[in-house]
Amino acid sequence: MSAPLTLLGQLSPVQFLADYWQKKPLLIRQAIPNFNGLLTPNELAGLACEEDVQARIVQNQGKQWTVQDGPFDEDDFTALPENDWSLLVQSINHHLPEAADLLSQFNFIPHARLDDLMVSYAPKGGSVGAHLDSYDVFLLQGSGKRRWQISPQSDLTLIEDAPLKILKHFEAEQEWLLAPGDMLYLPPNMAHLGISEDQDCMTYSIGFRAPKTQELVHGFLEHLQDSIQPAGLYEDADLSIQIHAAEISGDMVTKVEKMLQNIQWDKSNISDFLGRYLTEPKSDVIFEPTPKITIDGFAKQLAKKPISLALQSQMLFHQQQFFINGEPLAVPTRLVDQMQALADHRSLNATSLTLEQQAALASTLHTALIAGYVSF
Ligand code: SIN
Ligand code: CO
Repeated sequence: MSAPLTLLGQLSPVQFLADYWQKKPLLIRQAIPNFNGLLTPNELAGLACEEDVQARIVQNQGKQWTVQDGPFDEDDFTALPENDWSLLVQSINHHLPEAADLLSQFNFIPHARLDDLMVSYAPKGGSVGAHLDSYDVFLLQGSGKRRWQISPQSDLTLIEDAPLKILKHFEAEQEWLLAPGDMLYLPPNMAHLGISEDQDCMTYSIGFRAPKTQELVHGFLEHLQDSIQPAGLYEDADLSIQIHAAEISGDMVTKVEKMLQNIQWDKSNISDFLGRYLTEPKSDVIFEPTPKITIDGFAKQLAKKPISLALQSQMLFHQQQFFINGEPLAVPTRLVDQMQALADHRSLNATSLTLEQQAALASTLHTALIAGYVSF
């Protein structure tokens, strides 16, 4: 569980969580020494042309902001001015194994909080404006240099009619110039502005989403609606004459209040909701189904090579409840350790397990394999 010390400078993950996480910004010079990025500007532009990749181009000419949504083609890039724009590509970890490896260095933060790795490319002057994110974010500099300014300001007025949320009155309180390998951690709702100072500035944003209370509450109530079947009918054998036929009586309100107070849930409803909710793939995620294979054939493969989660897969567990890509996954008690390892490390070497365990594992993961959620 412990990350290499350099990633957090001189801090251990324990100190970082105690003093900085969700509390205050932290600049780490040379968090990843010699880091020059995981992909070239051309490779990033190539990804931005694909159907299942979420990408945006933001232009900031003078006070004029424009946003174009991908997928893009070559002409979109040739039409761009020399300076003052950014290309932002989401979920690079779904497409690049090296990006998934980079994220594993952040395993000191639970996967349940991870959103994605976004990579941006900008020529000189490129920026998405001063803004707030509802994310904890680690801004890791790849190639080039970016100047970051931050402000804990309370003036949240936005520029009217801009195509993205940009703060109207940003007043920088601190600033740093980040070079390749430097990293800035920002807690949610810290105003920030990053401007490219180079021709090829690439920034890697490792984002940990802080879900809104409203989102969690609405999500849970929706989940509850699908998982409870309250019995009975509204009863009013004690009905008395009302003065106003159109009035919803106090009696009726009280009866329904009692009915609602009978709705109950426990921790297992909550963990069931969280497991499904937090592993639900984003709408643009596509899995490649695996060609049909029998459970026996699958078990034989497990005896030969490790199995991994697909890059797009999200797997979480709570005690013995497992979830993968928005669905619960039934796991026999004797496989709980192995399945926890698969979720933690995103891969599992089952070659040294007994034949019986390999067969049980094949049976447990067969549907996930066919769906393309796991692969060899
Ligand atoms: C960027 O990489 O240009 C923007 C990242 C951010 O501000 O969250
Ligand atoms: Co931001």
